[in-house]
Amino acid sequence: MCGIVGYVGHRQAAEVILDGLKRLEYRGYDSAGLVIAPQEQRGALSVVKKSGKLKVLSEALKQGPLVGTLGLGHTRWATHGKPNDVNAHPHLSEDGRLAVIHNGIIENYLSLKAKLVESGHVFSSETDTEVIVHLIEEHYARLEGDLVAAVRSALKEVSGAYALVVSHVDHELIVAARATSPMVLGLGEGENFVASDVPALLPYTREVIFLHDGDMALIAKDSLTVTDFDGRVLARPVTTIEWDAEAAEKAGFEHFMLKEIYEQPTVLQHTLGGRFAGNGTDVQLELGLDPLAVDRVVISACGTAFYSGLVGEYLIERLARLPVEVEIASEFRYREPVLDERTLCVVVSQSGETIDTLEALREAKRQGARTLAVLNAKGSSISREADDVLYIHAGPEIGVASTKAYTAMVAAFELLAIFLGRARGVLSGEAAAELIRALRALPGLVEETLGARPEIAAVAEAFKDKRDYLFLGRGANYPTALEGALKLKEISYIHAEAYATGEMKHGPIALIDADMPVVAVATASALYDKTISNLQEVRARDGVVIALASRGDEAIRAHADHVIYVPRTLELVSPIVNVVALQLLAYETAARLGRDVDQPRNLAKSVTVE
Ligand code: F6R
Repeated sequence: MCGIVGYVGHRQAAEVILDGLKRLEYRGYDSAGLVIAPQEQRGALSVVKKSGKLKVLSEALKQGPLVGTLGLGHTRWATHGKPNDVNAHPHLSEDGRLAVIHNGIIENYLSLKAKLVESGHVFSSETDTEVIVHLIEEHYARLEGDLVAAVRSALKEVSGAYALVVSHVDHELIVAARATSPMVLGLGEGENFVASDVPALLPYTREVIFLHDGDMALIAKDSLTVTDFDGRVLARPVTTIEWDAEAAEKAGFEHFMLKEIYEQPTVLQHTLGGRFAGNGTDVQLELGLDPLAVDRVVISACGTAFYSGLVGEYLIERLARLPVEVEIASEFRYREPVLDERTLCVVVSQSGETIDTLEALREAKRQGARTLAVLNAKGSSISREADDVLYIHAGPEIGVASTKAYTAMVAAFELLAIFLGRARGVLSGEAAAELIRALRALPGLVEETLGARPEIAAVAEAFKDKRDYLFLGRGANYPTALEGALKLKEISYIHAEAYATGEMKHGPIALIDADMPVVAVATASALYDKTISNLQEVRARDGVVIALASRGDEAIRAHADHVIYVPRTLELVSPIVNVVALQLLAYETAARLGRDVDQPRNLAKSVTVE
């Protein structure tokens, strides 16, 4: 949700910042801006900001490059005020000497604004951010040019969630502050960096410091200091990032999303690798959690991560015989859920920064539940607050529509369910071994599924102009249908709904006609025959069926207009294989419609506001 990059050092700041913003554009892309402190004349900061994507800003900068070695940049996902040039960040003081960029929401901005207007401040934008500029300006004058103290005092008046960076023409310094929204510092030689996320820093440094909530950072060319909001110096560890810059780039694929779909065999090796034990009958997870101290599991997450939790529900109930509830984080956090110390609350997140999920975790902790996070991003807020973390090791995910993180999350739930089942003595070594064999084969099966791309592309071509789709699935593949529909709507803007196959006859069947393709997950399962009956019901109403079937199932051809074959595996492992075909269907459809696959309209990758 919005991307920040700040630089101070010996290079041309504008180049470093634009490059970093490009790597953060997945966080928001409705406007972008840049401010540079001029090296020579100390009159005012130079600023360029534009609505639209980053390339509009890059073009404007080609006309008039900004020269200087200290600067701040921003790519925005609008919360307050339309995405136009005026509302784009940075926001400057009236004299042009002070600049602020801010991610997040200032909750008390209306009352602050009223007070500031009364004392003579003139606002030029509709944003909540601008109040911070005026506040800092006031304190700066009062504190006779002490920038750090002015930021500190201003922030004491502000409530809400934010990550912000500040620069002033008279100081070769960037002041950063964090309250909830993520921010990371990058350490260089004679240069230092600040950004909302690691990919922006990777071409320059792998040594980073993750700021915590309530941290401020003073970033100069030759020094980096982290303090609390009262100015006490804090020791924050330096983390070395293992990803290389290439991992965050497209590696020859047309889109990040496609690259990430193709990375899944490798990602699954990373998620599962080194986690099997006891002759292939057990799973080893480094968790402090005592499986015997758990009576019930509650899973909470948003979007795609939520759907992975729905698969987790099937897995944990089946394999560990624990009751499981799954709830959308934005509902859970306000619902006064009933939890206790024998409840295990599992939150799931790729970014580790989704505010609703973070707050769900906090609510669970307040109620005394044991917490576990299934997570991708190391150093993220959720990673710091959960009692235990089970990393999915999916690497950086840049495409806004999540793909590899989803399959890795489901794989993590497979591990967790086996772990709990074995520890609780309800899953036999034999049954666990069969599942583990299937999991070990998964990377190869996903690779094979990717081989079905030509057939999937043919289906996409045939149906790309339809306005509505229905997705059906049952059991552990009901969430596969939900995720398939979400992927299609997110990136192709085609309306898609998903239902549990058995539920179709209770209402949605009224929608069936020759114009609404029905994608049915009909791979081998205990309820296969029931699924076939449901497909007949669709066909009897002139519906068009696209069936996802297990390789070798010739009989299904009699019940479907199109068949996409995927490799056979155990029913409980099949959601990971099956969803890959649906990811490709969404991708091939969106690409044919000329959609902006990596940055679909209105979306942002990491939703750090409510
Ligand atoms: C959909 C998608 C979103 C995210 C959701 C949660 O493709 O990516 O639905 O899954 O915003 O994000 P994380 O996993 O970062 O908490």
